[in-house]
Amino acid sequence: MAKLALLGGSPVRNKPYPSWPQGGPGETSWLDKVLKSNRWFAGLQGDDPDALGSIFGERFAALHGARFGLSVANGSVAIEIALRALGVKRGDEVIVPSYTFVSTATSVLMVGAVPVFADIDKQSYCLDHRDAARRTGEHTRAILPVHLGGHMADMPSLVEIAGKGGIAIIEDCAQAIDSDLGGQKAGTWGELGTFSFQSNKTMTAGEGGLVMTNDPNLAERVVAFRAFGRFRGQGGVRSSDLTCRHLSSNYRLSEFQSAVLLAQLEKFPEQDTRRQANAARLTKGLNEIPGVRHILVNRPSMKHGYYYYLVRFEPALYGNLDPARLCDALNAEGVPFVPGDRKPIYRHPVFEVKNLNDYLCPRALERYCQVVDLRNPQCPAAEEACGCTIILRHQVLLGEPEDMDDIIEAFWKIQKNIDELR
Ligand SMILES: Cc1ncc(COP(=O)(O)O)c(C=O)c1O
Repeated sequence: MAKLALLGGSPVRNKPYPSWPQGGPGETSWLDKVLKSNRWFAGLQGDDPDALGSIFGERFAALHGARFGLSVANGSVAIEIALRALGVKRGDEVIVPSYTFVSTATSVLMVGAVPVFADIDKQSYCLDHRDAARRTGEHTRAILPVHLGGHMADMPSLVEIAGKGGIAIIEDCAQAIDSDLGGQKAGTWGELGTFSFQSNKTMTAGEGGLVMTNDPNLAERVVAFRAFGRFRGQGGVRSSDLTCRHLSSNYRLSEFQSAVLLAQLEKFPEQDTRRQANAARLTKGLNEIPGVRHILVNRPSMKHGYYYYLVRFEPALYGNLDPARLCDALNAEGVPFVPGDRKPIYRHPVFEVKNLNDYLCPRALERYCQVVDLRNPQCPAAEEACGCTIILRHQVLLGEPEDMDDIIEAFWKIQKNIDELR
């Protein structure tokens, strides 16, 4: 039996996997256009018709079958703007999943509202609709599902729950560009969808974000909240015709970032096809290995966006290894897995009442204390996921088909040598 590379044996592979982000002639050419023009920003409200920001927004929305795509500075403020556009206010409650990036919930706090942490579904790692339903009440204004890693949340069930309660849905699609459930794309199930173009994402300008909606009134509010809370008057977009009606700040994206995003969008379909094919090959191989499972509910109607390829391992069959130790063994074989989140988001100290005291108004803080119990959060699936989940980043899926076979071989090797790792 081949010896594990971590313990001095030869690795399965020595070749690196593709790196990310990837720039090229397309990015250079679009950037050059901006540099040589005298338009370096997208206009007072960020939506001048000839601005690259507007063109990118339209094309990105078209990819998702949506009416409006409004570019903003990043995915975190995209959530804030979406909440403000809906009129979510101090003390309102917003249901968020417990296993996600922290800003899904901190964005709720940024508008003075209360994040209510709900558990995830053990199969998909996305918001558990039953637990979300259990936690809705008279103060719930929105549900904020995350399509984790690119896997669609159970949107039909969430839409039903929201519909019954008169509650809005904002989909956090930061990890789910072009994900799809039953032919309907991420970002179009709820009132609003938010996206991120931060450096790790499958489409990136280093930083960037977007708010998507089909509703013209919400689109108008997003545009206003994107730029100082200023609304258009009759006269158009001269600054003298803009009236500041709501408190906001400047969340516009620069034309340089939009230029890079236009080039990324052009390359996306080819990269997406490659990721889908490689992920399918990888899943087929991993499914044969005892005790490892790709986080993918068997829904033929879902298209996974593959921001992350999440793998859950059965601790009992893997010597109760810590995820970091398993990643060390895989990394030594030349396969770049990283541990998944090590704690549910509510374990970040920012969510402790003593730390929120300085930021939330008394009414919101009182509400928070009533609905959030950090001593007994009752999110067992999220807690469990932190101890048995590892992640492959999407750029690995841009390799050749044979590169996937190396990943499968590394898993087999570790599985057969598991006693050595204990
Ligand atoms: C699920 C989720 N929500 C929100 C964000 C925030 O996006 P950004 O980093 O662009 O602010 C991220 C990004 O990292 C994310 O993964």
